[in-house]
Amino acid sequence: MTSKLDADARAILQANDRGGYTVPNGRVYPFQWNWDSAFVALGFDTFDRDRAWRELETLFRAQWDDGFLPHIVFWKDDPGYFPGPSVWGTNKEPVTSGITQPPVAATVVRKLWESAKAAGESGSYRPRLDALFAKLMSWHRWFYDYRDPDKRGVVVAMHPWETGRDNSPEWDAPGEPIDVSNVGDYVRRDTSHLDAKMRPTKLEYDRYLALVQFGRSTGWNHARISAENPFRVADVGMSMILLRANRDLKALADELGMSNESAEIGSWIDLAELGIGWLWDDRIGAWCSRDLLSGRSSGFVTSASFLSFYAGLRDEQRDAATRAHFDRIAGMVDYLMPSLDPADPGFQMIRYWRGPVWAVVNYMIGTGLTETGDVPRGNRVRGDTLALMERNGFFEAYSPIDGTGSGGDDFSWTAAIWLAWSKGR
Ligand code: DGY
Repeated sequence: MTSKLDADARAILQANDRGGYTVPNGRVYPFQWNWDSAFVALGFDTFDRDRAWRELETLFRAQWDDGFLPHIVFWKDDPGYFPGPSVWGTNKEPVTSGITQPPVAATVVRKLWESAKAAGESGSYRPRLDALFAKLMSWHRWFYDYRDPDKRGVVVAMHPWETGRDNSPEWDAPGEPIDVSNVGDYVRRDTSHLDAKMRPTKLEYDRYLALVQFGRSTGWNHARISAENPFRVADVGMSMILLRANRDLKALADELGMSNESAEIGSWIDLAELGIGWLWDDRIGAWCSRDLLSGRSSGFVTSASFLSFYAGLRDEQRDAATRAHFDRIAGMVDYLMPSLDPADPGFQMIRYWRGPVWAVVNYMIGTGLTETGDVPRGNRVRGDTLALMERNGFFEAYSPIDGTGSGGDDFSWTAAIWLAWSKGR
C-alpha cells in the first residue's frame, strides 16, 4: 500500500513538474505558486535532493528588488487561468502577481539543509544555502518593513489570497467595506474546472478583483498599499508561520555565523512574542485574525487557530484553551483539522476554507503539536491526514466529515506532504 502511494505521489510531482518549478495542479493552477512550491520541495527532497532545492531557487528568481516574493510566478501564460498576468499588470520580469503568500520557505530550507547534512552532502549544498539565506532574509525584512505597520510582530494581509486561506469566513467582515462597484465584467476560470459549490462566491471574487485593481492602481507600491489598502487584516496564520520561519532562519544564521542577521531576526522574534497576543480572542479562547481597520477579532476558530504550537508560543492557559477546542472538534469529525469549526453555522464541508481539511495546514499543526511533546494529538492529525490520502487519493482538500476530495485532484502539495510525512520528516 505504502509503496504504491509513494509511487503515485512521486508521479504527481513529476507530472506537474514544468522544468525547475511545479504547478499545484495542471488545469486549475497552471503556474508556480509561492507556498505550494515550498511544500513541494519537501516532497522532492525525499527522492531528488537537487530538484527540491531547484524548486525554491526558481521561486526566488522572481523576487523583487525590495525583497518581496510574489504569490504567483507566471513563467508561461495560460489562458485557462484568471486573473492572469495582464490583470495583475506588475510589469516585472518574470511576470508575477503583486501580493505574497505565507512564508513557509525558510522553514523548508532549514529542513532541506538538515537532510543534506544528514546525507553527508553539506559541502555541495552550502553555497546554495548561502544564496537562499540572503534571499530569505530580504523577504522576511520586507514583511517587517511593509506588513507590520504598528510593529506588533504580526503579518498584515492585504488580500485574502495572501493568507492562502482564500475565502475563510475570517475575511467576510473585513471585506465588507471593499467597493466592488467598479470591478467590471470578467470571466472566472476556476468554476469551469471545478464545481462552483466548492469555490468562492461571486461577491468574494468581486472583492478579490477590486483589491487586485487597487494594488495595480498604486503601481504595486507596497508602502502605499500598506497605508491605503481597503483590506488590512492581521492574519493569524501568516503571523504564526512567519514567527516559526524566523526561528528557523535564525538557526540558519547562527549556523552560518551571520551574527548581525541573527540579531536582526532575534529582534523580530522578540517583537512577535511580545505583540502577537493581540491575536488572542479572550471571548472564545482562541487564536484569531484581527481586522486592522475596525480593530475587531474575527471570532472564528479555524485551522490556523492551532498553529501557535508550530510558532513555538507557549502559554499555559492559552495552550489549554486551544487544546480544548482541538478535543471538541476532534469529537465532531472523522478527519482533523477542518478549516472552520464544525459548530459554526457557516461550516460547509466542501466549500473552500469553510470546512475542508488541507494536508499542508495539518502538517504544520501536527508538527507543532509533536514538537511540543503533545504526541497523541500530533499523531491524530498526522494519522488522519495520511488516511485521507490512502482512502481518497491526492486531492487539494477533503471533507472532514466523510473524507470526500474537494477541489483539484493530483495535487502537488498534497502528494508532497504524503512523501514527507510518511517518511517522518
Ligand atoms: C486562486 O486562483 O484561487 C488562487 O487561490 C489565488 O492564489
